[in-house]
Amino acid sequence: MKFFIDTANLAQIKEAQDLGVLDGVTTNPSLMAKEGIKGQNNILKHYVDICKIVTGDVSAEVIATDFEGIIKEGEALADLHERIVVKVPMIRDGVKAIKYFTDKGIKTNCTLVFSAGQALLAAKAGATYVSPFIGRLDDISVDGIGLIEDIRTIYDVHGFETEILAASIRHPLHIVQCAKAGADVATCPLSAITALLNHPLTDKGLAQFLADAKK
Ligand code: G3P
Repeated sequence: MKFFIDTANLAQIKEAQDLGVLDGVTTNPSLMAKEGIKGQNNILKHYVDICKIVTGDVSAEVIATDFEGIIKEGEALADLHERIVVKVPMIRDGVKAIKYFTDKGIKTNCTLVFSAGQALLAAKAGATYVSPFIGRLDDISVDGIGLIEDIRTIYDVHGFETEILAASIRHPLHIVQCAKAGADVATCPLSAITALLNHPLTDKGLAQFLADAKK
């Protein structure tokens, strides 16, 4: 399973890259706003800055919600850097745009996916990635990991190549559950990735080994 980091924070992206386990980055308008990135030129420059840090795919989201607007924005984003993946919402014109981008060889990430039916539609349109938001489903008492399992089954039965990019991950257990459920990618906050390091028995055992090494 690939690890993406779900942030527009350059320091956090560098930290994850330095850890040696980073395969890509996802962003969205909320994450860009959180970093105070404003204005079209600054936003485009920020995507390029992210691409310079990592070696994998970088999802950049369109703001337009109409077909023509999504195409115009998406093509401009794709022209920025070879690693840019155009992130498109799961709406009618979004699905049409994903098919258009697929036919042109432009990679896409279909975002805001909350059902197996939506994931099926994204795969039919040829999306490179589909992003089910598991944390937001858990928030409303719907089983987010169960959705990953359902999409895995559908894609495997029918041979869809769209990669399942589990998003809205909140904690390290989500990452482990996504791995078990067969997600191709988990996009996570840095805190969830580094939390995978932790186990009290590791700390206790290391302290003992270091103490014994001095004897
Ligand atoms: O990748 C989508 C993700 O950013 C949404 O996460 O925590 O806002 O539900 P969250």
